[in-house]
Amino acid sequence: MASVRKTSIFNRSDRFIEGWYWALRSSDIKKGAIKALKLQGRDIVVYRGESGRVVAMDAHCPHMGAHFVEGRVDGDSVRCFFHNWKFGPDGECTDVPCLSTPARARVTTWPTEEKYGLIWVWTGERATRSIPFVPELGDGECDALVAGSFTKKCHPNVMMINAIDEHHFNSVHNLPVDLNMDAVSVSENLQTFSNTTTLPPSNPLTRFIRQFYAGPLTYAMAYWYGTTGTVTLGPDFMHFYIMFSLRMAEGGGTEGQTVLVTKKRDGLVGKAISRTALGLSKIVGDYFAKGDTMVFETIKFDLQTPTKADHAIIDFIQHVEGQRAVSWGSWAPVKSDRVSLEVVA
Ligand code: FES
Ligand SMILES: [Fe+2]
Repeated sequence: MASVRKTSIFNRSDRFIEGWYWALRSSDIKKGAIKALKLQGRDIVVYRGESGRVVAMDAHCPHMGAHFVEGRVDGDSVRCFFHNWKFGPDGECTDVPCLSTPARARVTTWPTEEKYGLIWVWTGERATRSIPFVPELGDGECDALVAGSFTKKCHPNVMMINAIDEHHFNSVHNLPVDLNMDAVSVSENLQTFSNTTTLPPSNPLTRFIRQFYAGPLTYAMAYWYGTTGTVTLGPDFMHFYIMFSLRMAEGGGTEGQTVLVTKKRDGLVGKAISRTALGLSKIVGDYFAKGDTMVFETIKFDLQTPTKADHAIIDFIQHVEGQRAVSWGSWAPVKSDRVSLEVVA
């Protein structure tokens, strides 16, 4: 039986799943601004052109290596501070002030999208796959609100596990329901988990709730690229949606954004309903964020004794292991040999 310690992707700080990761909040970058950041170990800049378009590119100029953060935005292009070379949003050099024709130079740009109030960057060769979305809402436009950001000392994969760690909902959160999270691998990068149990009549609290509502109580997760998780929670007349979008920090820590999501509604009344839904989602999100966050500051994740109650966690690790990995910093593909885990107790 393989040990979780020998994983080829899960909980590793030298590589990660090729995918979409949040880079900045949309509100962090106004038109004409350039920001420098380290994303998944790579130095990049993100700028917003005069049209509002957001571009992500490698941080250093292909002429002599100056950092683009010292440059300036020119239309939807960027000009390097040092010799004023101009690079378009596709990374191609389009102007060298002291030459009659532009130099044959290009800077690597990365596919970039704005959604849910975040700027997302694809960390690999071709962005052929989808930005994370809540399956029930689909990949169209949504009303969303970035509700908070956080850092943790453990790996994003380990934080993601919390929402499908059935046993801890009883031990830490005192949930009077035994969860059973059923995994479905929807695609290479998307795995969903849905709870299959109902409110038990044996418990006084759940018996009380059942007087008012005996329908299904949905609790479902969708995991994208092993690092962004969406929660769908609520009775069938009102579902709440929260997205926890994580990325790895140097050395295997986590930098995350909490995003509240609801379906797109138009008009004044629609907007008011959406605002209320997002406000209620915040309460649900706060519940998830409290109670056990200190565990993620000190845990040295090592599933040495996997049990039946850990079956969803094992499903998740195996799905992570089956995705395409790239190297921390270079974002170049790495070969990985997935592990397989077995329940021992
Ligand atoms: S270093 Fe950028 S233009 Fe020379
Ligand atoms: Fe928890």
